[in-house]
Amino acid sequence: MIGKDPLARRLGTIPPYLFSRLDEMKSNARQGLIDLGEGNPDIPPAPKLLRALRQALLKKENHRYPTYAGKESLRLAITRWYWRRFRVKISLDSVIALIGSKEGLAHLIWGTCDSGDIVGVCDPGYPVALNQTRLCGATPITVPLEEKNNFLPDLDFLKRIAPRLKLLCLNFPNNPTGAVASLDFYQEVVQLALKYGFYIANDNVYSEIYFDSPPPSILQVPDADACAVEFHSLSKTFSIPGWRIGMVVGNKNLLSALLRIKQNTDSGPWGAVQDAAHFALQNGAQFAEKTRKIYQARRDAFCQELNLTGCLVTPPAATFYIWAKLPEWWQERVNGSASYGFVIALLEKCRVLAAPGLGFGRYGEGYVRFALIAEERRLAIAARRLKRWLNNARAGKL
Ligand SMILES: Cc1ncc(COP(=O)(O)O)c(C=O)c1O
Repeated sequence: MIGKDPLARRLGTIPPYLFSRLDEMKSNARQGLIDLGEGNPDIPPAPKLLRALRQALLKKENHRYPTYAGKESLRLAITRWYWRRFRVKISLDSVIALIGSKEGLAHLIWGTCDSGDIVGVCDPGYPVALNQTRLCGATPITVPLEEKNNFLPDLDFLKRIAPRLKLLCLNFPNNPTGAVASLDFYQEVVQLALKYGFYIANDNVYSEIYFDSPPPSILQVPDADACAVEFHSLSKTFSIPGWRIGMVVGNKNLLSALLRIKQNTDSGPWGAVQDAAHFALQNGAQFAEKTRKIYQARRDAFCQELNLTGCLVTPPAATFYIWAKLPEWWQERVNGSASYGFVIALLEKCRVLAAPGLGFGRYGEGYVRFALIAEERRLAIAARRLKRWLNNARAGKL
């Protein structure tokens, strides 16, 4: 350091990013690691999708700056997809293409919240909503997601905080718990938002990773677009997280705030990726179906083995995450964070990487999250290693 601290003071308000800590753990790990840490899809993208991207590379326009809100052709494909999937009509000027939904969520918070504004953030939750709220100087309020409420926010609690909120960040199907919100739940939250005048950002990036009935969109609630926007991503649906493409639709005022931040920060997703995303949304229903089947088989194989360990898990109805409650005896035995302790021991003893529940918030303590990002065979090996280690550890042999 040459004198002044190079770090902005606001960086002191957030912890190191959870998944960068997991990356560090991974790089120090022994050989033979089974990595179930980050929600980073491993399924190869469909060959037809790769072909669409290759063709898009040859277009001259795709090597120039993209437009800020995204190509009209892609935005039109998004509106059509919304209609087919949710029976919701979206106008072209109510859509923005994003460099992944993470970017959009972060910039929405910066575009809408000032210091002093209060943002409701789910706990446990994807860390971006909480950390960006802190970075932009607004004040987060924890919205607990507890097992006794099926990992959904308690509506009475929401009613109590509603008058103070500027923005409520929701994420269903939920990372990390796998919980799915019903249309009735969304209806209640939209009613509250309209009554108390707050906004809603619903992160629906796992809408296509389901094993039961398809999860709804908050925009299916009449008048939701008066207060809500919804994020989607192609990262999970089409296994292309590296391409960085997502979208946000809904309330025009919120979108315009987000776009103003984007205009001063980035230049939109790469044109070639937008064209390939257009192709995926228009022709990709069967790719998404194939992906669901793969995750379902992985989910079932892993949960069956895990339930034999005393680490009790309910197979999630959506997402590719297994949210496992740690055994009581482990929680009683460990000093400090039970979930971090478990993840460290799991890495050392089993060469399996998982994400500690506490990394998703205080209400995540006592759980670990396994991402189903390895083939069934490797998942079964991971669960068996875990079973052997836990049996020995429970008997006090380790
Ligand atoms: C809840 C949630 N929202 C957003 C994202 C980011 O997705 P994208 O690749 O579209 O930025 C993730 C990624 O894991 C996520 O779990």
